[in-house]
Order: sequence, then structure tokens, then C-alpha cells
Amino acid sequence: MKRYFIHTFGCQMNVNDSLRMSEALSKMSYVPTPEPENADLIILNTCSIREKAEDKMLSALGRYRAVKASRGAILGVGGCVAQQEKDKLLKKVPYLDFVFGPDNIAKLPEVITRVQEARERVVETAFVDSEEYVFPRADAETSRGKVTEFVTVMKGCDNVCSFCVVPHTRGREVSRAFPEVLVEVADLARVGLREVTLIGQNVNSYLGGISFAQLLLRTAEVPGIERVRFTTSHPHDLSDELIEAFRIQPKIAPHFHLPVQCGSDRILKMMRRDYTVEQYLVQLAKLRAARPGIAVTTDIIVGFPGETEEEFEMTMKLTELVKYENQFSFVYSPRPKTGAALREKDWGLIPHEVKVARLERLQKLQRRISGEYTQSQVGLDVEVMVEGRSRYDATKRFGRTPENRTVNFEGDAPAGSFVTVHIERATPNQLQGRQVAVLKEPTVAPLPVELPVPLHVPAEA
Ligand code: 5AD
Ligand code: SF4
Repeated sequence: MKRYFIHTFGCQMNVNDSLRMSEALSKMSYVPTPEPENADLIILNTCSIREKAEDKMLSALGRYRAVKASRGAILGVGGCVAQQEKDKLLKKVPYLDFVFGPDNIAKLPEVITRVQEARERVVETAFVDSEEYVFPRADAETSRGKVTEFVTVMKGCDNVCSFCVVPHTRGREVSRAFPEVLVEVADLARVGLREVTLIGQNVNSYLGGISFAQLLLRTAEVPGIERVRFTTSHPHDLSDELIEAFRIQPKIAPHFHLPVQCGSDRILKMMRRDYTVEQYLVQLAKLRAARPGIAVTTDIIVGFPGETEEEFEMTMKLTELVKYENQFSFVYSPRPKTGAALREKDWGLIPHEVKVARLERLQKLQRRISGEYTQSQVGLDVEVMVEGRSRYDATKRFGRTPENRTVNFEGDAPAGSFVTVHIERATPNQLQGRQVAVLKEPTVAPLPVELPVPLHVPAEA
């Protein structure tokens, strides 16, 4: 048996793609190892959303070079950097054996065979468009023992946000037919999953035979599924029908990630985001009326070319006004071939120190607001879906509230249970407490050993 190790960077699409890679490898009699030093095959599933993400993957690649030297491991790069760089990556990294894009995961066994048998260096980065695209189907058995899973509903992105590399790395939008999505959800529910997150670069523009709102409602009706989440959304596609779904279906979890990017209409226009701050706020007000208490999170870019101090202050004000539960904020990073990177000199480059100072101020503000939310939970009893052992303390359990707040607690309920936890303490990013009641038992017997967590570096980092 040969061993493989996958190092995943980036977003939930990549996490999901890594799972599909694992499935393909298990059919070739490869088994996973948690230690790259013992692997015969190492794959980096990469992200190119910001320059920093690319740097991280290059330094990881350097570390794995030693494994290749010591035991002849095969080394491959997949994901968004692979798609962006294609054969250039083989030239840049002479010890790399293969490069494959997100649309070529199904070809992985063939690629590896070519590397092993013909000692070829292989590049597979063709996009597969609309009609021909076949979504890799998840094997539900590989999710047994888990509680929550991603289900892909679409791939690619047809938006033209001027800062974003994704249309170049993930291609055009293709939606997955809704019956296929529902079958996958039902299969996952049968092996004990209680929650699914429907994922895509822009799920609101889903076109798989029914509207995205209908897809959420149908998913929520799958027996065994208690919570339905989704990510990620573009504000300009947020429909009234979707807001209505939040009103009528409590299983749609009360959390909405709605990236605003910034608080200035002028910058939003340069970003080609297609909405104004006011339009965004109106949609948000409707959403909060439909589901009082819904947690709203966002993404923000600071230091976009030309952003003045006043415009940055607008982002601060918006953060304060919306009172986001949390936000992922980043300094602007120019990406190859994007509209903003081509025009940034005309619009005005923001010095790195200024960008970083703005980011620090914004993050400090958000930490305060997040802390107010978590602090408001102390003394309350909250519903938690148990996911397993706590990462910080092996004697504790870990789970999430419907709003997606992280909870570490004293208790004994197995993964897949729903419990009431009395919250005793809070930090800005987690709640702590003790289990006081079991609300629902798992639907299938838990595994004797809980599953290890794979290596993942989130895009947020
Ligand atoms: N620079 C900085 N942040 C970016 N994002 C996307 N592209 C860039 C970029 N070039 C951020 C956006 C997006 C999140 C996933 O990453 O905020 O919503
Ligand atoms: Fe995900 Fe975008 Fe990073 Fe690709 S570039 S892994 S789509 S966040």
C-alpha cells in the first residue's frame, strides 16, 4: 500500500476538492498518512486569492522537497495556483512532478500513473465547460463518522469583480442539477450527517433546474438533516425568495455570509460589485426582519487602489452600523490579469504600511463587536450540534450553535447529537460552557474512534 498526504490551502471549494482527490486515490490503493515524511505522494491543493496564499504554498513546497529527496515521493500541485500558472509552475519548480487544475481531479489516477510509469512531468489544466462538466460525486461512505459536510452545487464564477482571480482559476459558472444535489444530501444523511453546507463561488446565481431558495428548502426536507448552510453569496443576487426561505424554514441555519467588500460606493463601483451600500443595507434589513437574530458575517478588502482615508472610514462606519458577528478582512493584493491590477497605478497605489494600519484598526473594531456578541451569550442555554472532541482540550467536546458560533464544553454527548449547553465564559471567537441536556441523539451509531482533522490552511489566514 502506498501512502499519500494532501495539504489543503484556501476556501471550502478546495477542502471539498481535496476530499474528491482522496476518493480517487483510495481507488488506486493509496491510503492517507498524517505525516508527510512517510508519504509516497504529496499533493498541495493551492489557493491564489492573495499573494500571501501563494507564498505559503511555495514555502510548503520547499519543505516537501526534502521528502522527495529522501524517499522518492511524487510531488504534485493542484488547485488555483496550478490553474493560474499551468506549465510555468513546472519550470519554476524543477522538482515538481505534476500540475493539475480544479477541473481535472477525475484525471488524477491517470496523471499519477503517467508520472510513475513513464516518469513524465504532467500538466492537466484544461477547463471543462457547461454541458460537458461532470461534478465529482461524493462517496457518502467516506463521510461516515462526520457530522457536517460540504455539498457542491455549482462551480466557477461569472462575476467580474475587479480584484478577484477566481474567474481565471475556476472558469465559468456551471450549476449542478438539483436532483443530483438532493441525492448526495440524502446519501450523506443515511450515514449519519446532520448538517450540510451547499457550496459554490456564487450560490445565489444557481441555475440547476430550480431556484437556489427552492434548493435550500428541498435540502432542509431531507430526512435526518437538521441544519442547512450555504456559502458564498454575492449581494446583487440576494433574492426576496431566498430571504423568504429564511422566514419559513427554521432548518436553514440563522447565519448569512454576505461579503460587502467596502463601505464606499465609489470604491464598490471600481470593484465592479454592482450594488450600493444603501442597496446592501436594505437587503440586510429585510433579512433581519425575516429571521430576527440571524448572524451576519462579511468579507472586506482595505487599501483597494485609490481608497482615501475618508473612504476607509466609511468601511469602519459600516462595520459599526451592521454590527457584523464576524468578518474576514484583508489588505488588497494585486492578482495577475485582474482589472484592478491593470489599473492600480492610475487609481493610486496605497502604501503597504497604510493598508496594514487600516486593517489593524478595522480588525480591532471587529474584535470588539464580536466580543459583544459572544459576551451576550454568557448565562444563556444554547443549542449545540456536537461535532466531536475539542481541539484545545481533549477532555472537552466541540460543536456549533445555529448561528455558527463555536462552543467548547464539558459533556459526553457523541458526535451527531444535539445538546443544550449552558454558556459560562466567552472570548471574541468562542463560547465555553457545560452540557445540561440532550435534545437529539445521533441517527447512526458513532464510530469507535473520532476522525482526525486533515491539514488545512484557510484562505482567511
Ligand atoms: N486582495 C485581497 N483580498 C481579496 N479577496 C479576493 N480577492 C482579493 C484580493 N485580490 C477577498 C474578498 C473575497 C475573499 C474570499 O477574499 O474579500 O470575498
Ligand atoms: Fe478558493 Fe479562491 Fe483560493 Fe481558489 S483562489 S482556493 S477559489 S479562495
